[in-house]
Amino acid sequence: MERSEQNKQVVSKQRVRDHGEVFTQEREVNAMLDLVRGETERIESRFLEPACGTGNFLAPVLERKLAIVKKRYGSSQSDFERMALAAASSIYGVEILSDNVAICIDRLYNILNNDYAKLFGNACKNEFRESVRFVLKRNILHGDALSLKSPDRKDYITFSEWSFANGGMVKRRDFRFAELAEFDPRTPTLFAKKEISDTGEAVFSPMPVKEFPLTHYLSLNTYES
Ligand SMILES: C[S@@+](CC[C@H](N)C(=O)[O-])C[C@H]1O[C@@H](n2cnc3c(N)ncnc32)[C@H](O)[C@@H]1O
Repeated sequence: MERSEQNKQVVSKQRVRDHGEVFTQEREVNAMLDLVRGETERIESRFLEPACGTGNFLAPVLERKLAIVKKRYGSSQSDFERMALAAASSIYGVEILSDNVAICIDRLYNILNNDYAKLFGNACKNEFRESVRFVLKRNILHGDALSLKSPDRKDYITFSEWSFANGGMVKRRDFRFAELAEFDPRTPTLFAKKEISDTGEAVFSPMPVKEFPLTHYLSLNTYES
């Protein structure tokens, strides 16, 4: 999905009134990301934007991570695939307007796919592209970041954690955003166990709501959504 006015800050006055939709400009985005430059260049660092719009922050985060992936792993297709997927799978967003969600997913997918196509041309694999799209659809979620539920408030938002193991295998575990966001070490919940570290501090050990079997990184779309 495209929106021709994607670079504009405002789509309509109505949307500003209803949802406070004013997109951040590139210059401000880059200045803010520069404050955490080290993290934006760490391939597996996790970023979550709870009101991500069309991805004005998440897109440059992915670009910065992919610049590192290309430099370090661009000479091997399988290494590039695994590390580019690791970069994308650690980027998360929540957005209340469904058209913004779709634009954001497409935007992140196109950034990764353009790099992939430039590097590997005809050798590019559709299974990899499908895994990337699957992961992005699981990570950029249509939801309400205030209630931490779906926009109709029926279902809790659940995020997937993607852990990369040997042999190109990936472990997916799903967590409720509410449990992650509202963690209070003094009141452990069903999904967040309180544990005490060696230094006596409370440690956050969230419990997944669902765990999935190890799956090859080229077959991630065989997971249920
Ligand atoms: C000020 S805009 C910022 C968008 C993006 N972060 C950026 O900097 O370009 C706020 C965004 O939050 C979305 N939004 C408003 N209320 C929300 C809510 N309760 N949960 C999730 N997203 C919400 C709006 O639709 C809009 O896209």
